[in-house]
Amino acid sequence: MKLAGLFLTLVAFGSFGTEAYTFSRCELARTLRYHGLPENKLRDWVCLVEKESSRRTDAIGMQNSDGSWDHGLFQINDRYWCNRAGWPGKECNVSCDQLRSNDITEAVRCAKKIFARHGFSAWVAWRSYCQYNLPDISYC
Ligand SMILES: *[C@@H]1O[C@H](CO)[C@@H](O)[C@H](O)[C@H]1NC(C)=O
Repeated sequence: MKLAGLFLTLVAFGSFGTEAYTFSRCELARTLRYHGLPENKLRDWVCLVEKESSRRTDAIGMQNSDGSWDHGLFQINDRYWCNRAGWPGKECNVSCDQLRSNDITEAVRCAKKIFARHGFSAWVAWRSYCQYNLPDISYC
């Protein structure tokens, strides 16, 4: 547990530098828990992140048909939620770059905001893959 704590601290302060980072399933579960996502929804969040970004912090999807892009672990859309121009803006008052950082603080904050407004159904991948079939994190 000490090691896990150190690991989370390193992630929280971006000590992995500018390199992209891919979480293991259990690292992800522990890190999301550390950032305050509730235990009874943790499997949903892990499923969502696995399907949206394969747990890669710097993921950027294919361009959407409306010209927008999706950013980071949670594949958050820049039409409404983050500002592509490099400074904070839009609904989450965040730059899209921050949503692709190894420090996932801002990405989680924005994901919580989206969830508060729309629930998990805001995420196509959750609707398609996670409604009836959630990953096992009991061994984490
Ligand atoms: C947005 O975030 C910046 C700092 O990142 C802050 O200075 C500004 O006050 C925030 N704006 C709003 C509307 O919250």
